[in-house]
Amino acid sequence: MILSANEAAIAQAAQALCDGQLVGLPTETVYGLAANATDDAAVAKIFVAKGRPADHPLIVHVASRDQVPLFAAQVPEFAQALMAAFWPGPLTLILPRQPGVATASAGGQGSIGLRCPSHPVAQALLQAALPLGVLGVSAPSANRFGRVSPTSAAHVKSELGPDLLILDGGDCAVGIESTIIDCTRGEPVLLRPGHITRAQIEAACGRAVLDKNSPQAVLGQPAPRASGTLESHYAPRAKVRLMSADEITHKLQALGPHANNLGLWSAKRPATDEGMGSGVLWLEQAATAEQAAHDLFSVLRDLDARGVTQIWVQLPPDTPEWEGVRDRLQRAAA
Ligand code: TXA
Ligand code: MG
Repeated sequence: MILSANEAAIAQAAQALCDGQLVGLPTETVYGLAANATDDAAVAKIFVAKGRPADHPLIVHVASRDQVPLFAAQVPEFAQALMAAFWPGPLTLILPRQPGVATASAGGQGSIGLRCPSHPVAQALLQAALPLGVLGVSAPSANRFGRVSPTSAAHVKSELGPDLLILDGGDCAVGIESTIIDCTRGEPVLLRPGHITRAQIEAACGRAVLDKNSPQAVLGQPAPRASGTLESHYAPRAKVRLMSADEITHKLQALGPHANNLGLWSAKRPATDEGMGSGVLWLEQAATAEQAAHDLFSVLRDLDARGVTQIWVQLPPDTPEWEGVRDRLQRAAA
């Protein structure tokens, strides 16, 4: 059931977490499927609900930096700087885990992903749950494994059914998942690009950010099991194809009147002589990376819901601010 996130609903959700139940939770990035991070049985329900393999670790959401030492055994100086700069906000840090804590959530790994969300409803829930003994909340995106992340309460309901308690906190402002920085390898390593860019990370901590596959980053390290970093992910039912604006025009013109059940997300609505016809459903791709990130997952869902069989997407420019959007698009198309 979807509850408008007022004080009573937040108290009810905090109690549900304390009782070992799942809650659909709005954050500034995407909606999460939340459980008490230190309750292994509750966390196990997340994996079942999502159909997610149990060895894919979850992010633990905390109310503030005060909870970090409960979960992380050690926090390097550069990670402290990143928390100071970006928390609360859409940044997840992978840190060495306190032995014996949140084992199920960590998928058995020796590290733990921590994030302090800025969404007022997420903050209110984390604060309300603390005195009930819920020290942190594990929450992957609230979608079935491999599918498109939800950015509204209605999306969560359509993914996970009517029985789940979902707090409605409106549409997510950011729209793509948090930037993930691995802080266990001596230098910051980018595991998943997001709203907070590589350049912002580097400026805040004064270190170069390594790519996850760079030789320095992988030297002697086991590859982390990161589902959001699998090549194929965020997949709508329709087949996604990425193209340049020119390619779109050429292909549309070639199809002509045969274009059918085709979704198109591009900057400019094609003219009739550029192949635009009644079989093409066009949605506008925003010119800024921020707005496009905000729209991305709901556009994919929307086109899916309207029954298109293919989604053609104009691939945004290969510039730093578009890294997060391009990453999600490439994996939606893989
Ligand atoms: O914005 C977000 O991060 C959203 C909202 C709900 O907070 N959450 C999210 O969770 O995207 P999820 O489970 O869909 O993606 C979490 C990613 C996965 O790629 C997971 O493998 C990685 O974080 N991760 C979590 N803990 C990790 C760890 N200890 N080591 C390496 N990767 C980890
Ligand atoms: Mg996810």
